[in-house]
Amino acid sequence: MPHLQLAPMEGVVDHQVRDLMTRIGGIDGCVTEFVRVVEQRLPRRVFHRLAPELGNNCLTPAGTPVKLQLLGGQPAPMADNAARAVIAGANAIDLNFGCPAKTVNKSDGGACLLRQPERVYAIIKAVRDAVPNSVPVSAKIRLGFEARDNYLENAHAVADAGASSLVVHARSKADGYRPPAYWECIGEINQQLNIPVIANGEIWSVEDYLRCRERSGCDNVMLGRGLLACPDLALQIKAHLAGTAYTPMGWLEVCALLRHYFDLCRPNYPDKFAGNRIKQWLVYLRRQYSEADQFFELIKRVQQPDILNAHFDAQLSIHPRRAIERSA
Ligand SMILES: Cc1cc2nc3c(=O)[nH]c(=O)nc-3n(C[C@H](O)[C@H](O)[C@H](O)COP(=O)(O)O)c2cc1C
Repeated sequence: MPHLQLAPMEGVVDHQVRDLMTRIGGIDGCVTEFVRVVEQRLPRRVFHRLAPELGNNCLTPAGTPVKLQLLGGQPAPMADNAARAVIAGANAIDLNFGCPAKTVNKSDGGACLLRQPERVYAIIKAVRDAVPNSVPVSAKIRLGFEARDNYLENAHAVADAGASSLVVHARSKADGYRPPAYWECIGEINQQLNIPVIANGEIWSVEDYLRCRERSGCDNVMLGRGLLACPDLALQIKAHLAGTAYTPMGWLEVCALLRHYFDLCRPNYPDKFAGNRIKQWLVYLRRQYSEADQFFELIKRVQQPDILNAHFDAQLSIHPRRAIERSA
């Protein structure tokens, strides 16, 4: 069976989403939102805030391994903070060379580093040397910054620096998140590297997985927005490959999951903003479920948690027991 990872998504896939998604099943690994490294030494609490799983042997409650992701442009502080993250409990470090955000790139982090493969090498090498051999250091890149031009140089820099594996998001920074994903470029990388290469980008369905596998030559993939749109996509892929019958999650099960997330979010936000995270998730779900589209239209301006709950009640009252049982 392929190894399927849940993609890191800053501001979207937090530890609670990792918990809910890995309970559904099919996901073999997760990566945290990035921890931004500038110059200072980060306190333990910063790592634990983004990755409470560090206190649980780096596992989600369902037992799925979680890697801690760091983002920064300077080898020495990255190495220093990676070592601190390991002391704080991390047992696998991932390094982000794909973030397209202007603020991040302006301050010398994320995808802008892809313009200089020698810097990608220096950062990974410094981190690799700073943490124990038992701690894998992996990297995530895009195909380039302005153009899809130097991905082979960057991929070799990653491998030569001692990374244990490489995730490739099959687009340049300039491509943003616009389809298509250039999976065939991952195929070129995969042919040249002697470390595992994981394909990422634009896998929304079992059919997309199969096409990506064919073009990239990678069995193992990382799923981001596709898993948010279709929370059991990893199970669907595995059932298809195993040739076993599987009934995909229906809207009621997904809605019960969303309500559970709402309950988890409420203590973390003022009432006015408590619904923001579920509205954000619904934007992805709309792609897969027409009911999610209608539900989003109903609640998009609702701010009071009690009214949001009443809307959830109305959705779930159709078959509440079945929906809630599957989400528990
Ligand atoms: C809102 C959002 C936040 C993201 N945050 C991160 C991040 O913190 N670290 C990272 O390596 N990639 C991040 N990504 C990129 C995703 O991990 C992934 O590479 C990208 O979405 C393409 O995969 P997909 O088509 O399966 O979504 C983010 C993407 C989105 C849409």
